[in-house]
Amino acid sequence: MDVFKVNGNVPLKGEVHVGGAKNAALPILAATLLTEEKVVLRNVPDLSDMRFMLEILRHIGADTIQPEPGVWEITAKEITHIAPYELVRKMRASVCLLGPLVSRLRKAEVSIPGGCVIGPRPIDLHIKGLKKLNCKVDISNGYVHVDASDIKGGPIFLGGRSGSTVTGTANIVMAAVLAPGTTRLECAACEPEVVDLCEMLVKMGAQIEGVGSPELTITGREKLHGCEYSIISDRIEAGTFIIAGAMTRGDVNVKGIAPKLLGAFLDKLEEAGLPMELGADNIRVTPYKGSLKPVDVITLPHPGYPTDLQAQIGALMTQTEGLSIITERIYPHRFMHVPELQRMGAEISIEGPSAIIKGASQLSGAQVMASDLRASAALILAALASKGETWIQRIYHLDRGYERFEKKLTTIGAQIERLSDKDIPKELLQY
Ligand code: EPZ
Repeated sequence: MDVFKVNGNVPLKGEVHVGGAKNAALPILAATLLTEEKVVLRNVPDLSDMRFMLEILRHIGADTIQPEPGVWEITAKEITHIAPYELVRKMRASVCLLGPLVSRLRKAEVSIPGGCVIGPRPIDLHIKGLKKLNCKVDISNGYVHVDASDIKGGPIFLGGRSGSTVTGTANIVMAAVLAPGTTRLECAACEPEVVDLCEMLVKMGAQIEGVGSPELTITGREKLHGCEYSIISDRIEAGTFIIAGAMTRGDVNVKGIAPKLLGAFLDKLEEAGLPMELGADNIRVTPYKGSLKPVDVITLPHPGYPTDLQAQIGALMTQTEGLSIITERIYPHRFMHVPELQRMGAEISIEGPSAIIKGASQLSGAQVMASDLRASAALILAALASKGETWIQRIYHLDRGYERFEKKLTTIGAQIERLSDKDIPKELLQY
């Protein structure tokens, strides 16, 4: 298994380019099932989650061709309605196949995704939305069975106890675009990745009003046609590199990202006093002396502070004098990185849904274990700011959502290399 070896305490310097957004590409790949015509997607990131989704599309019957890196041509002429457990279990986001299969075939059988370490991942709102579209939904043997022969548009309130649902909104929008009648979707997610999906659906001929707002009005069409579409940049990858520059007091220019995609995140960093220069399509972190200011962060649905950048700002706050409080309102258990950061010398205590971080601690390199995608990123950020050598195991979690992460970090001066767990020094394994 691959591991990362990181030598920390090196200020990062230079330019890094952001790739396509994983959380836009996943529902957009599923949306290619909505037409029998060819869909050409550009700026598709090369991630294990993408490879899983493409494998499922092929299993369902779609043709997938990669004419060049980052570009995929998908044609779903003849498709079946079943997404099997052995494929879906690898990636829970494959639940967003439900909408397109229901739309295109008027039936679907999709394995219920497993949970994951960040907490339970229910799909009750997805099911509620499908039922509101007059679908018959039955859960048995670990599958969601949908009979959509009488599907029709209607009013849907899709909010749950944590507010809106990102893939739930994607699913219901994709189910509604070919449903006879009009669907008025309230409490729709407004994440940029949902906007990107809607914009592609409109390019395919879908009729959606209110894109980007919590109220969408979808008028069902007979058919959708193919299109060419370029996926938006990954704001979470961009935010991760911005924190990498801040943690090492470096000078890092993150290119290919519009600051408007990171409103709440940049606002919080400004409050912390991080010097940044914002361009139309880039964000530059510049060196600073002394300490940033501690912050109080609560994660919320967009446009609130993104939960996918919670672990990363937590790592930064270990380097910031004073007490910072980070409250996780979307996934209350999303603190798997904390015990590992504590092993590196961070002073953090978990009080219910909040992490209380006492900075500034001098972090020291250690052997740590990644547990989930964004926790892995936080461990690498901490390693970059640590004195000495850090070995990070189970980095397959990271490969799900960051393309060539160590290579991009190396281009801005990080001392990080991808090795095998067999390379971990014996003396380290004694602990
Ligand atoms: C998407 O997950 C993202 N994944 C997640 O990113 C992200 O953390 C999350 O949205 C929140 O922004 C993809 O887009 C592939 P939700 P999703 O449905 O859609 C509750 C990453 O690191 N809920 O918006 O699964 C749920 O428990 C990943 O890139 C219900 O109660 O998240 C949570 O508390 C991790 N019932 C809240 O809503 C439902 O039917 C938000 O979940 C659905 C969700």
